Amino acid sequence: MTDTLWPDPLSFEQALSEAASLTDSLLDRLLVAPRDLEARVYEAMRYAALSPGKRLRPFLVLAGARLFAVDRRCALQVAAAIEMVHAYSLVHDDLPAMDDSDLRRGRPTCHKEFDEATAILAGDGLLTRAFEVLAHPDTHADPAVRCELVAALAAAAGAAGMVGGQMIDLIAEHRQLDIGAITRLQRMKTGALIAFACEAGAVLAKAPLEARTALRGYAHDLGLAFQIADDLLDVEGSAAETGKPVGADAAAGKATFVSILGVDQARRQAERLIGQAVTHLDLFGARAELLGEAARFVISRRT
Ligand code: IPE
Ligand code: IPE
Ligand code: MG
Ligand code: MG
Ligand code: MG
Repeated sequence: MTDTLWPDPLSFEQALSEAASLTDSLLDRLLVAPRDLEARVYEAMRYAALSPGKRLRPFLVLAGARLFAVDRRCALQVAAAIEMVHAYSLVHDDLPAMDDSDLRRGRPTCHKEFDEATAILAGDGLLTRAFEVLAHPDTHADPAVRCELVAALAAAAGAAGMVGGQMIDLIAEHRQLDIGAITRLQRMKTGALIAFACEAGAVLAKAPLEARTALRGYAHDLGLAFQIADDLLDVEGSAAETGKPVGADAAAGKATFVSILGVDQARRQAERLIGQAVTHLDLFGARAELLGEAARFVISRRT
């Protein structure tokens, strides 16, 4: 019997918190440290992946999978895999060679808690474990579906996606980029992984192209709005709320939507994008309510 997710209507907050606890218990099982010398890298991987983040990407996987009544165990495998890749991206993003950040999710960053070399290895370990999880038969009975997920996550995380976006982001500290270049950078560094999360349920369900296109449209706008909100929080938020240092982008001289458009216009742009994102959900009717609420959460959040 198919074990579907969230069979009863529930609020966005409940669904997000349930997505977080389901994902965390799977991450806990997938990242068991061996009783051997390499245990230290597992401890660092667990430290990074199990620290208290929002778990928005796992939520998006589960909410997308719910549209197609995908088996919950399959969706959770993908949710855990994307969160591992996300956690890896944060560990490396915080390194002295990148954003040089000491605080993440209200705790010392991985390289502060452990050391730089361990943090680099922990990131590598999380990235590669994610693909091992996607390739496991628990993710889907059909190897072609598993292969499609592996290829899609690799594309989203790699140099054509997140890694490429991070490269341009570093260049943006020294070069004035125009709004078009910033848009492309944000879509790559943040949007690509969010898009994978939104589309994964449709891949698991072998959903028709029309549904996948709608989810891609939603994700396209959501991802960009998410990063604009992150940049706004860097200016207007507090470390107590976000669990990470604020003012870091301006201090690094980083070109962002906020530095180019100013706070008010950047917020209006994020709101426009969210309005646009939800129109892509029309195809799914009331079933997509949680995704609609997620879109509104992305720009109203304080964390
Ligand atoms: C932070 O992502 C990094 C960006 C892509 C902007 P989140 O805001 O989702 O971070 P956590 O997972 O909740 O800590
Ligand atoms: C990082 O963007 C996005 C990643 C791909 C990790 P930021 O550098 O703005 O993320 P925060 O603000 O440190 O979370
Ligand atoms: Mg960064
Ligand atoms: Mg950063
Ligand atoms: Mg930021």
